[in-house]
Amino acid sequence: MPEADLYLDLLKKALTASLYDESAGHASNRIKVNNEVVTLPPGVALVQYRPLDQMARAEGRDWPLFGFSMAGLRRMDNIQFCLDRILEDGVPGDLIETGVWRGGATIFMRGMLASRGVTDRTVWVADSFEGLPPPSAGDLAHGGKDPDHSQEAYLKVSLEQVQENFRRFGLLDGQVRFLKGWFRDTLPAAPIERLALLRLDGDLYSSTMDALGALYHKVSPGGFVIVDDYHAWEGCRKAVDEFRAAHGVAAPIVQVDWTAVYWRV
Ligand SMILES: C[S@@+](CC[C@H](N)C(=O)[O-])C[C@H]1O[C@@H](n2cnc3c(N)ncnc32)[C@H](O)[C@@H]1O
Repeated sequence: MPEADLYLDLLKKALTASLYDESAGHASNRIKVNNEVVTLPPGVALVQYRPLDQMARAEGRDWPLFGFSMAGLRRMDNIQFCLDRILEDGVPGDLIETGVWRGGATIFMRGMLASRGVTDRTVWVADSFEGLPPPSAGDLAHGGKDPDHSQEAYLKVSLEQVQENFRRFGLLDGQVRFLKGWFRDTLPAAPIERLALLRLDGDLYSSTMDALGALYHKVSPGGFVIVDDYHAWEGCRKAVDEFRAAHGVAAPIVQVDWTAVYWRV
């Protein structure tokens, strides 16, 4: 394997916490004692240890304790596939993920640009950096049984923490720009000229629709749209299907794994 691909392989394993058994498990600061929920003091958590399930991690089916992305290895491979096609074919534009959690997928995008010697593209990192919003009326109408994760502390990762995560991988520099806030506020006014890769991972109907509405028209011909939650979140799938129908998008949807899909513009 060429050296650059060895780096990317290791980067994907590190970002998805696929290397160590210690990374498997789930931490909680709330435990049940005699049927009563007790909240542990700040800085104290109960960790339920499980041996690493390589298959679940590869498919992004579990939530890693220490990982920087919950997308899993197959979806990281998909980002690599799309970005290599973009670079080989000279498709103009930047890269964005809307919904980044700890930043892992965008750290991988920046690592790929570094490994391929690309200096003229920016990775945009868009998130509230305070977790998911409560489901709106539209989410409730379209989301069926989609869960409300707005109070889930595990999903709330601050801007400073995500920047620190980039820094730890040596990948925080001027080619990374952050858009902090709700998508409906940040994305329409974002100073992005053109995109080659639009990766949607905001789970909800409204988050998916807000991102598509603000950014899809900026994706260059030959660029890619990846939808992480297409099969996992009913509201997300409905937003994508509605948007494609309304805008006459006929490009075939390609399956990545059990939930993620992509199409080429
Ligand atoms: C499932 S996580 C993203 C996982 C991440 N892509 C990864 O690789 O692990 C969903 C993220 O979307 C963000 N999010 C969802 N809806 C949003 C909205 N409307 N505006 C801003 N951020 C949103 C949440 O804060 C959360 O970080």
